[in-house]
Amino acid sequence: MTVEEKVGQMLQLDARDDLDDHVLRRQVGSILHTSPERLARAHALTAQTRLRIPLVVGEDCIHGHSFCEGATIFPTQLGMAATWDAALVEQVARATAVEVAATGVHWTFSPVLCIARDLRWGRVDETFGEDPHVIGELASAMVRGYQGDGLTDQTAILATAKHFAGYSETQGGRDASEADISHRKLRSWFLPPFERVAREGCRTFMLGYQTTDGIPITLNDWLLNDVLRGEWGYTGTLITDWDNVGRMVWEQKVQPDIAHAAAAAVRAGNDMVMQTPTFFEGALEAIAAGLLREEELDDAVARILTLKFELGLFEQPRHPDAARMADVLGSDAHTALNLEVARRSLVLLQNDGVLPLAPSVAKVAVVGPLADDAQTQLGDWAGNSGQAGWLPDGQPRDMITTVLDGLRAQPDLDVAHARGADILTLVPDPHGAFFPDGQPRPLVAVPCEPDAAMIAEAVAAAEAADVVVAVVGDRIELVGEARSTATLELIGGQKAMLDALAATGTPLVVVLLASKPLVLPPSALGASAILWVANPGMQGGRAIAELLRGQVEPTGRLPISFARHVGQQPTYYNQIRGQHGDRYADLTQAPAWAFGEGLSYTTVEYVDARIETPVVTARDVIRASVAIRNTGSRPALETVQVYVSDSVTSVSWADKELKHWVQVSLAPGEERVVDLELPASACTIVDARGDRIVEPGQFELRIGPSSREQDLLRVTFEITG
Ligand code: IFM
Repeated sequence: MTVEEKVGQMLQLDARDDLDDHVLRRQVGSILHTSPERLARAHALTAQTRLRIPLVVGEDCIHGHSFCEGATIFPTQLGMAATWDAALVEQVARATAVEVAATGVHWTFSPVLCIARDLRWGRVDETFGEDPHVIGELASAMVRGYQGDGLTDQTAILATAKHFAGYSETQGGRDASEADISHRKLRSWFLPPFERVAREGCRTFMLGYQTTDGIPITLNDWLLNDVLRGEWGYTGTLITDWDNVGRMVWEQKVQPDIAHAAAAAVRAGNDMVMQTPTFFEGALEAIAAGLLREEELDDAVARILTLKFELGLFEQPRHPDAARMADVLGSDAHTALNLEVARRSLVLLQNDGVLPLAPSVAKVAVVGPLADDAQTQLGDWAGNSGQAGWLPDGQPRDMITTVLDGLRAQPDLDVAHARGADILTLVPDPHGAFFPDGQPRPLVAVPCEPDAAMIAEAVAAAEAADVVVAVVGDRIELVGEARSTATLELIGGQKAMLDALAATGTPLVVVLLASKPLVLPPSALGASAILWVANPGMQGGRAIAELLRGQVEPTGRLPISFARHVGQQPTYYNQIRGQHGDRYADLTQAPAWAFGEGLSYTTVEYVDARIETPVVTARDVIRASVAIRNTGSRPALETVQVYVSDSVTSVSWADKELKHWVQVSLAPGEERVVDLELPASACTIVDARGDRIVEPGQFELRIGPSSREQDLLRVTFEITG
């Protein structure tokens, strides 16, 4: 290969730009953001290049195929996490892979393994929540689903673990801000899920945007080489995030020019450079100037070519396949799976008995700005991102069931509808429509004022109904990359609408359709019922209607804590113990709803917990059991959570960490003894030197339906040296 051909292989560029220039001049190794038409053109151009090396095609298909009309859009990762069901998540990834592969895309930039910390961050919806164990389990399931039985299988696609690592440890929730994070903290919480999928064969890793200790993660030698490739033995491919290499020059200003930035990125071990077109010229210039040797490109190029060989692209091109697309995109089987995931993702937070709606409830008022908002319901990365020109391919409206559609489709229900409030309008940034370098700033969201006429209409509908269902939350423009929010409150006219609805006296059911936990006003907190729904995908409205009417049971559990106030950030449950000032003078630090919480239509009592292995070594298995009883009159799917608490640690540590869970079905009145097993090697901490170790001593298992202390039964055991 010529040096130009090698540099070209290392580039992944946006297919919406000049494809002729990308493929014929730069000879790129990969493109992203495609469509069948763009792909046809790109492949035809590749056939004109000297070596005709096939392109590997990437896309952000993180909860379904985001760039293809007619594809299945599932609940977001946070919604999937609320199911606490790794097998279901694996099925979603498999179905996604089947759809994605049919469209000629070989690589998805998923799963996201970031830990949700500050809820103001705009990408909380893309995570599996706040717990490293849940993230590891579900991410591993997703990787299995995408990569299938082996990459040569025509339905397998490459998975990407992202964003390596610490990206979500933001400043003030602001996206891509500095991640002020020590090696020990990384090893304690942020790295374990990544280590797991690296060791299990996830074929690609994406680096985040953040800098840590003054170094962009793209250049973090310790993380990339010592930890990932060294300690974990990772042999896969590393891809940068969008223009990480260019950013080092124009944004972070840690490299004087693109030649130096390109040389530094190659030396640090990056293989593929996403969307820095000038990397091509920069790398060639670096080689000509002696900043980089041509041989230093070889490892990266070899890893990219290996991916292409593993996918079998040289022998059998994987181009869009119209017949397969017609068969699999939005197929009945995928739609049924989507409905099941949506049902399982719903988390009932409060219920005074109004739910399930009694058969006597004949008239329902469905109000609120999100009751019929198909785009918000799909969530981010679903062809609808709201940012002009960002994701172009919309999904057909008739594939989506909104909450209003879902309730209207219910038999024997008289449904009235009023919008009641608007949320926001988008305007040019009033503090300067342009960045200092002349680039236009994105539009900013300005909350709408309450509208008296709209509220009056909603109130009239509520007064005429037996129950009012208010669908409120955050609109799609408040979700995603570079869209963090300063507030967690319901904005626009929503609060005033809820106040007015509460005053009617009609039982109020709040459906909180929110990409992430939001802070609810008193009128919502006083509602008869509150149901949290992360962006639930195409079938969300049907699933919600079924749950409200009691045709399905609420089984979702929170993968993330809800705050009472934005000022409580962060609210995650596994914070370091023993900070005696761990509350505010004017507010408790307790969350509104804690990690693991969620109600059913029945009640499950935790009767008795036992330890069968009171003394173990770190190589043994801990065995315990818990007796649980369904004390209500409806079936339960109970998520039994097992937390480990180390009584004394050589360094400060979380008071408890989730290490295991099981889901158990119980018929009304049924009692079962649930066996629990986990390796004692899971009872680790990261010591002062940064080593992950088991410290012998006394431990507790805390077993129950949520992370709240009052919900947990305790048994003790000892780990001997
Ligand atoms: O994959 C994404 C990443 O998560 C954020 N920046 C853009 C990439 C490609 O779209």
